[in-house]
Order: sequence, then C-alpha cells, then structure tokens
Amino acid sequence: LANGLGQTPPMGWNSWNHFNCQINEKIIRQTADALVSTGLSKLGYTYVNIDDCWAELNRDNKGNLVAKKSTFPSGIKALADYVHSKGLKLGIYSDAGYFTCSKKMPGSLGHEFQDAKTFASWGIDYLKYDNCFNDESKPTVRYPVMTRALMKAGRPIFFSLCEWGDLHPALWGARVGNSWRTTGDINDSWDSMITKADSNEVYADLAKPGGWNDPDMLEVGNGGMTKNEYIVHFSLWAISKCLLQAPLLLGCDIRNVTKETMEIVSNKEVIAVNQDSLGVQAKKVRMEGDAEIWAGPLSGYRVAVVLLNRGPQQSLPITANWDDIGIPPKTVVEARDLWEHKTLEKHFVNKLSATVDSHACKMYVLKPIA
Ligand code: DGJ
Repeated sequence: LANGLGQTPPMGWNSWNHFNCQINEKIIRQTADALVSTGLSKLGYTYVNIDDCWAELNRDNKGNLVAKKSTFPSGIKALADYVHSKGLKLGIYSDAGYFTCSKKMPGSLGHEFQDAKTFASWGIDYLKYDNCFNDESKPTVRYPVMTRALMKAGRPIFFSLCEWGDLHPALWGARVGNSWRTTGDINDSWDSMITKADSNEVYADLAKPGGWNDPDMLEVGNGGMTKNEYIVHFSLWAISKCLLQAPLLLGCDIRNVTKETMEIVSNKEVIAVNQDSLGVQAKKVRMEGDAEIWAGPLSGYRVAVVLLNRGPQQSLPITANWDDIGIPPKTVVEARDLWEHKTLEKHFVNKLSATVDSHACKMYVLKPIA
C-alpha cells in the first residue's frame, strides 16, 4: 500500500500468541518498558500491538468503539501517549465483520470511517484487521473500505490484513494493505511452524517493500519448541522477510525472558537479513528429502542461505550449490555463519556444505570477494 509504511518488514510485539484475551493496559505498558530495557527496541522491535479483546462489547451512544473499562481504564489514547513517550508505536486490532473472532468486542464492518478516525485520534500506528463474523461478501470488497478510511484518517497507519490466506490476499493485498496473512493461525509447535513457512513461501514473488507476506507471528519464547526449532523458526521468518512480531517476553515481566529467547530474537545478523534494503523474500531453491535449501538475494550482491534439516532423527550433510542460489559459477565467496557469529576461514567456490542436525538449520550470508 502506497502509504509510505513498511519499507522493511515491521518488527515488534503482539499480545495474541501469549496472552490471548487476557490482556490489560498494565501488560501493554510493561511490555513497552521491557522492550526498551532489554534493548530489543534498539534492535528494531518498535511496534507494541494490542490484539483482540481490548474493547467493550457495545459502542457508545455515538457509535464509537470504547476501550474496556475493567482492563483498559485509562483508555487507548493514554496508552498510545505512554508507548510513544518510550519511542515506540502502538498497534490495535479490529475486524472486517460485525464482531471480532473472540466475539467479545464489535467489528468495524459498516463503521470503517468512524473507527479509522477514532484510531487516528488516539495516535494508533498499526491496524491488524481480522475476518470473523462478516456478512460473507468478499474480502476484496470489505478490506478496501478500511484502506480508504485509513488513508483519510489523517495519520499514517500500517494496515495488516488478517484474512488468513483464504482468498489468496497475496494476489490483491499490495493495493489494499502493507501485509497480508498467507495462512491460518500458527501454534507453538514444529509442525505448525514449518507448515506456515511452506504455505507462505509459495507467494515469495509477491512480497516487496510496502507489502509483505505474513505467515503469522513468532512463537519464539513460548515454550513449545526446542532451541534449535526456535532458531529454525526465527531464521525462516527472517529470510522470508516476514514480520518479526512476537510475544518476545514470557509474560510481561522482563525477569521472565530467558537468556535463550533473548539470544534468538536479538541476533542482530539475522535481523539484518530480515531488514535488508533489497526486500526480496527467499525461496526454497532445492528440496532433497528432508534437506532443504532456502535462499534469497541481499543488497551488495550478497546472498542469504538457510540449510534446513526437516527430518526428525539424523543429522544430514546439506550442500548449497551456486547454481541453485543465484551466484555465478566460479565466484569465490566468503561465508558468515549467522548463528555461530563467525566468518568461516575457508573461502568457497561453487558450493558450500555443512552437516545439519535434525529439526535444525544453518544460516549464512555469502559475500563474493573480488
Ligand atoms: C484470528 C487471528 O488469525 C489471530 O491472529 C488473532 O488475531 C485472533 N483471531 C483473535 O481473535
């Protein structure tokens, strides 16, 4: 969407994967504080996004959405002011239907212009727009109404389409929003995560600055996968230029973030791949049984590569051939291992091989040397 936003995939946090409907303004404030005190905000995690369940079930007598008194007593404007004072941005959630998916608050169908104005007046920076309880008209009819409303609202608001991929929003989303979901909801398991990455990969060619594929939010830190599996999750989301939004913090208290989670989500080198100015989504360039090679170009004629072992049992030798990953034959390449944080001593010509453990990956940036 040509609103100037999302030139690189947005990074931040969203309440849903960890908290579901159990949210309140204290959690949101503490999350904002923790993003700053952990240093994550400096790495780019700047959106603090409230998902479903933040509003009263009924609008006020003028038809305006109202923050839920019991959980957001200070109101959303005060929360936006607080989040902005920390140098962060506030996101909110609504639905292109009569109710949101929780059925605990109203949707925006028929109230698009009024709600977009409300969001802008509160200082909202990001809108996630769900698809539950709609009138069964096409999303291609309902979503653009909110696009127009946001464009008229007088404040740049990143527009995230949450249509779950049913009507292939990758095919029409670029005109309507800044990102579009390509899948149903993720859960905190290897199978769910890897399936979402696969479904999202199909649309790689359609992602570009200003409009990104969204295979749903990160689960890193929520406890359902092993460390290596979370590293695969983070590597694939990063190389696929997906939104790096996560319940990065276990609960809302910074003391609960494990070292392991921090080590994964604060990997600057992997984040740099995600945020690279070229903005090209990686593809699976080779599949051999459980071994896969994902690769995509980066600025400066560099290439990002993930060697992935999807198998549940043994380690596998995996080779990335220059032919497959878009490096001209005979090019001599320097390889940086992004999880070991080291530049390999050896230079590589025509291929790079590594042994990869089961449910694990290696991630490199390859740089041609003159
Ligand atoms: C469905 C979406 O896909 C989820 O990400 C989340 O926003 C829930 N709805 C909230 O009800």
